[in-house]
Order: sequence, then structure tokens, then C-alpha cells
Amino acid sequence: MLDQSIQDLLSRSLKRIEAAQSPAELEAVRVDALGRKGALAAFSKEMGKLPPDERKRIGMVLNQAKQSLESSYESRERAFAADALSARLDAEWLDLTLPAPGPRRGHLHPITRIQRELEDLFGSLGFTVLDGPEVETEYYNFDALNIPATHPARDMQDTFWLDGGRLLRTHTSPVQVRGMERLGPPLRMIAPGRVFRNESVDASHEHTFYQLEGMMVDRNVSVGNLIYFMKTLLTAIFHRDVTVRLRPGYFPFVEPGFELDIQCLICGGPGCPVCKQSGWVELLPCGLVHPNVLRTSGIDPAVWGGFAFGLGLTRLVMMRYGIDDIRQLQGGDLRFLEQF
Ligand code: PHE
Repeated sequence: MLDQSIQDLLSRSLKRIEAAQSPAELEAVRVDALGRKGALAAFSKEMGKLPPDERKRIGMVLNQAKQSLESSYESRERAFAADALSARLDAEWLDLTLPAPGPRRGHLHPITRIQRELEDLFGSLGFTVLDGPEVETEYYNFDALNIPATHPARDMQDTFWLDGGRLLRTHTSPVQVRGMERLGPPLRMIAPGRVFRNESVDASHEHTFYQLEGMMVDRNVSVGNLIYFMKTLLTAIFHRDVTVRLRPGYFPFVEPGFELDIQCLICGGPGCPVCKQSGWVELLPCGLVHPNVLRTSGIDPAVWGGFAFGLGLTRLVMMRYGIDDIRQLQGGDLRFLEQF
């Protein structure tokens, strides 16, 4: 009797193991047949009531059935594990022969880009590109430019003073003097670079910004030459007509001096924070080089004349791209810079 029941259980369980579709179904068979409270355990208990001979024989039958179930269970379990592994390998397949993605490519800062464009433009007009130190002496930043210590014009540019009478240059004009000393007349030069002012920062003021200085010294240089170069410059920069106005402007190193303003390209005239609500933006202070400045640099003003201008590169970039807050340009926020 018990024999038959064990055989029945065995064949039923083997079929169920074979038919199991998931590790969970397989586990259910194991619990039913092999578990602590399963069918084999129950048979084992019953077996205890049999006479010794019979008990021994049934014990062997039971053992065989158990072994056969266990080995069938294990091989099915291995098959499930192998299936799971190959499914995972399919899903996570990786082609190690593919080229690795390269580093993310950046681009030039908009100020650098406009600076290089202007270097090309002026290069084609025969101007040399010069560089000068950002930490300057009082002599080059002020005295040689006809701004002696007692001159009220020193207050026009709030200065970061350093130890030993040095300073952070407040404009690129000191490179005019260095250029005249180095090259002598006739000369055509531009000097782009960073300048510093001790100002409180707002949407239109920064302590650090960029200018592009320009200077031409030759015989018979007139206001007409100056205006011609300024017009060429603005047309090349904006690729369109911009409304400009020329006002007299005071700078100790030029005479006569002018302020060339352009109509604000951000608001188009009605007024905004960038143009301080005036509709106009000062972009291009300029003028004819003051005789004192030529003389100081060893150039005879009776023979030579010149013009000079100081283009606000930072302002220019703001106008060109419609940026209404100067602080963003040096803010270092890539989300901002990536737009250009
Ligand atoms: N250096 C002057 C400034 O920064 C600008 C300027 C340059 C004016 C050249 C005239 C000629 O304010």
C-alpha cells in the first residue's frame, strides 16, 4: 500500500517539476513533496508504525524517491538559473569594440569670439595686435595719458590700487603709450584686454570687463579718418545699420574727444536697464590723440597726429546678443554660456 502511494507521489511530483514554469512553481513542488511538512515526511512518519523488516524496505524506497526528486529538482533549478543568466546577458549586452564617446566639446566665450573677429578686421586694415599688463603702473595708466595725480579726471575711473603704487589698469589706454614707445610712428595698433574698476556691481556695471583699444599715428590724421574707421568698425560688427550719435566727450588724452553712442539694441530706444533708461549706449569713446601724449612718448606732435578709441567689448557683446545683465558674462554659469 505505502509502496504504491510513494510511487504515485514520486511520479506526480516529477511531472510537476518538469512542468514548472517559474522558480516559484518549482519551489511549491519542493515544499509539497520534500518540505518539513511535506508528503515524504508524512510517509516517513507512517513508516515508523511498520514491523522492522517492512520498515527497512520502505525506508529504502522512500530514500530512493527522495533522491530522485531532489536531483530532478536541482537540475530544473539549474535550468532556471541558466535561463535567467542568458536573459540578463541579452539585456545587458555591451559592445566593447564600439569607440568610446569623446569628451564634450566646449566653445569660445562670446567675448573671445568678438575679440578675435575684431583682431581679424583690424589686421586686414594694417593694425598690429598688442598686449599689455593688467597690473599697471600709475605712469602708464594715468600720467603718460595726460592725467597727473592732481587731475580731477582720475576720479572718473575708480581704481583698485595695489601695493607699491601699482594698480589694476582701469582701461586699455596704457597700451597706447607702450605701443608708441615700442613701435614709434607711423603706427596702427589695437589692444584688446581686461580692465578693472572699483565699482559697485549691477546689471550694467562690472568690476571686470573688456575693452579694445585702437590707435593710429601718422601724418595728417584727421577727424575724418577717425569717423571712417569707426563706421567701418560698426558695420563689420553689427552687419546692419545701427543708429549712432556723436557727442563731445572729455578724456584728457584726446583733443577733441567724442562719445560715439549707438541706439540701444536691447530695447530699441524706449529705455531699459542696460541703457539706464536713456535709449542710448556709450560704446565708443574716441578722439584725436592729445599732443601731450604724443610728446610724452617721444613723438613730435608738429609732425605726427593720431586718433584713438576705446571700444567696450563687453557692452558690444551684450548689444549683439541681447544680454541684459552684464554679470552673466563673467558669472561662469555654463547654462548661460552654452547658448552662444
Ligand atoms: N580709455 C577710455 C576709457 O576707458 C576710453 C577712451 C579710449 C577714450 C581712447 C578716448 C580714446 O574710459
